[in-house]
Amino acid sequence: MKFYMAPMEGMTGYVFRNVYHKYYGDVDKYFTPFLCSTGLSHKELHDVMPEHNQGMPVVPQILTDRAEDFLKIAERLKEFGYDTVNLNLGCPSGTVVSKGRGAGFLKDTERLERFLEEIFAGCPLKISVKTRIGVQAPEEWGKLQEIYNCFPLEELIVHPRVQKDFYRHPVRREMFRSVLEQSSMPVCYNGDLHSVTDFREFTAAYPDVDCVMMGRGIFKDPGLVRACKNRSVTQEERFSTLRAMLAELLAEYRREMGNDTHTLYKMKEVWTYLGQSIPGGERPLKEITKARSISEYKVAAGEALRRWEENCCMDN
Ligand SMILES: Cc1cc2nc3c(=O)[nH]c(=O)nc-3n(C[C@H](O)[C@H](O)[C@H](O)COP(=O)(O)O)c2cc1C
Repeated sequence: MKFYMAPMEGMTGYVFRNVYHKYYGDVDKYFTPFLCSTGLSHKELHDVMPEHNQGMPVVPQILTDRAEDFLKIAERLKEFGYDTVNLNLGCPSGTVVSKGRGAGFLKDTERLERFLEEIFAGCPLKISVKTRIGVQAPEEWGKLQEIYNCFPLEELIVHPRVQKDFYRHPVRREMFRSVLEQSSMPVCYNGDLHSVTDFREFTAAYPDVDCVMMGRGIFKDPGLVRACKNRSVTQEERFSTLRAMLAELLAEYRREMGNDTHTLYKMKEVWTYLGQSIPGGERPLKEITKARSISEYKVAAGEALRRWEENCCMDN
């Protein structure tokens, strides 16, 4: 089984990827949050520059509905040494969809087909696609599948929700059977694998799938992939690895941003997911959210981790 880390805008940037890779290093591919400016913004540039991605298998992702822009960014990525680029056809956000990008591109299949023709004709890199299964209803998938099958996709990563589901509607896992049966390229599953139990249920239902992508689950428990791989780790190791990773993440964000307010914001974001895994963690999580300084944060995070160690009863 291959495990990919999902792209998560604002969360899985190069700082997080590097620190995660150092302490866990168990992911087969990392996908960058989407790039969308042809000139690459300062943030985008730093995220993909080779010196920030040493020793990690990274696939940059592009979000656009203009073939010309896609090809410009891909040229730049080629100069950086990348060999594959991923196209975002899944982002459900209103601002993206209203511009006909991300999942919004799925509603105009003729335009999508022309776009794919142009990028496959001109792109110097291999192309993979991360997609939802439609905009309004899963019945839209048939046509989309037909289109994807016409192109030599490196792989197809499928999040089986439609755009209007956002993340609220339960993932439409039953639809994934037809995706698998009808796809002519390697397929990766993505969506709501947030615990070892979720992963085991999924592999029991889909024993023929050999690739999954995980996002929020890794933030809820950074040791999730390791646990899914059945790597035995003692509780002590598990906690010390998490403590060390969080300490380094804090130090690295501080170094990168040179600003405690932004660093605090980043760490709070990480804890919004991590905190969900701590039984009885509401109180320390609240303290983390309220922290106004790094020292207040450290006290609250220390308390949250102590609680986690005491309770120690996540479902894996
Ligand atoms: C905060 C956040 C940011 C995201 N950013 C991106 C992104 O930049 N590109 C993308 O393709 N998907 C993005 N996604 C979607 C995730 O990659 C993934 O498809 C989704 O979270 C479902 O997988 P999960 O249940 O394993 O988290 C984002 C999701 C979240 C919650």
